[in-house]
Order: sequence, then structure tokens, then C-alpha cells
Amino acid sequence: MYFIFILGTAGSGKTILTKTLQEYLLDNEMDTAVINLDPAVESLPYRPDFDVRDYVDAFEVMERYNLGPNSALIASVDLILTRASEIKSEIDQIEANYVIVDTPGQIELFAYRDTGRIVSQLITGNNKSLGLFLFDSYLAKEARSFISLLLLSSSIKFRLNIPIINVLSKADLLKDDELNKILSWSENAENLIDELGKIDEYSIELVNLLLENLSSPIIPVSSEEGKGYDELYASIQRVVAGGEDYLTEEPNPRL
Ligand code: GTP
Repeated sequence: MYFIFILGTAGSGKTILTKTLQEYLLDNEMDTAVINLDPAVESLPYRPDFDVRDYVDAFEVMERYNLGPNSALIASVDLILTRASEIKSEIDQIEANYVIVDTPGQIELFAYRDTGRIVSQLITGNNKSLGLFLFDSYLAKEARSFISLLLLSSSIKFRLNIPIINVLSKADLLKDDELNKILSWSENAENLIDELGKIDEYSIELVNLLLENLSSPIIPVSSEEGKGYDELYASIQRVVAGGEDYLTEEPNPRL
């Protein structure tokens, strides 16, 4: 069993990609299950095999603790851990080749907080996993935002200690020249540095380092038009086949 975490900033297209990827995998005769980890989502376009909303309701948390929507969601994910063993036994019932995990838009859970790592370990146990990090086309077409997304993606990779595939979501919203420009940035740091104009040595080194460590160029995908999924699946396969092997941590005995 292999877990695929769908990660990205709010509204980057995680939920629709989850649905489209599941359909793609099922069409290709791969047993695929889906986990919804977003306690605040109101409706889903797919039928989850595990739904965190059965354990915690972000709106109830908001009222009970008098929190705003963002902090209620963070608190809800913390609360999930109080029901860890029930959750673990429900997830253990899932049988599939691939389990796609749709995550909440509060990216700080996975980029800056330990909760995201603990919850992801609770879910995967001893199974291997990878992450798809979505670069929202709307943000990625601006060079500085593209770099911010690279930093976020690296931060998640560092926190979760899993291979990350970078995906350019909503590619249908880009004009051809915008798409080609983004692809050229991900293939060659010089192109991105040229776009930034005058920048200091530190920034140049940072951009070089971020791009040197990309496992593959960013993969454009349109869930709306169902495009890019062959390339995305090929990239997932490369990781699954052992192109990138990661040390898996021992599961936390307290979970
Ligand atoms: P949060 O859970 O709120 O963080 O959102 P999300 O990342 O799950 O994004 P979601 O899948 O809900 O999509 C957000 C918006 O982007 C919706 O209006 C989608 O219709 C739109 N969207 C998602 N994928 C695509 C795409 O490939 N093309 C276009 N044009 N729009 C898309």
C-alpha cells in the first residue's frame, strides 16, 4: 500500500485533484482509496473511505473554544490525535494499492507544525508515502511567488521526510507563454534568476539550491480538463519503483 498526500496552499486545487487522480487510477485498474483529512470541508466531490469529520467537527470546535476559522482548524487537527487509536484501527481496514490523502488548506500544519507530521505518520504506519505539492498557477506565474512556493515545498519535504513531486495545478488557466516560462524556471535556475532582475548573492544561491534539489521539473496538470495525469502518474511510478528511497521513522509507540 502506498500513500499519496495532496498538499498545497488554500484553494490550490487539492480536492479536485484528489478526485481526478482517484478516477485516473481506477480507470487504470489500480485499487485506490481516499482519505479526507480536512475537518472543515462542507462538501466533497468524492466518497471518502475515511473521513476525519466523523471524529472532529471544525465548526463545533470554533464555537466551543470561541476560535476563528483558521485556529479552529488547527485545533481540530490537534484534537484528532486524542482519538488516534480509533482512527488507526479504521484506517487499518482500508485495502488498496494507493491511498490518496486530501489535506486541509492550512499549509502551516505541514510546513511549520509538528502536528502534520504526527498525523501523517499515524495514517501511514509502516507504509511508504509521497507528497504531491501543488503550485497554484495563479501564484506560480509570478517569479517571486514561484520561489516562495519552492520554499514551502522544501519545508514540507523537510518536515514530512517523504519524496515530494511538484505539480503545477490549474494549468488550463495559463496562456502558452506563461506555462512555458514557468516550465523553463523549473528546468534551469538561470532562467528564474534572470526574471528576478537585480538580486543579491544570497538569493542567487538560494534559488540555485532550491532548483538543484528538485527531483524532477514541475508537472503541469489540469484537473478541469483531465490533462497531465499520464505524466503525473509516470512520476509517481518512478518514486514508487524506488527512484527515491527515504528512511522511514519508527512509528511513535504513543500513537
Ligand atoms: P481548500 O481545501 O479550500 O484549500 O481548496 P483546495 O486546494 O482543495 O482546492 P479545490 O479543489 O477546492 O479547488 C479550488 C478552486 O479551484 C475551485 O473553484 C476549483 O473549481 C478550481 N480548480 C481546481 N482545479 C482546477 C483546474 O484544473 N482548472 C481550473 N480552471 N480550476 C480548477
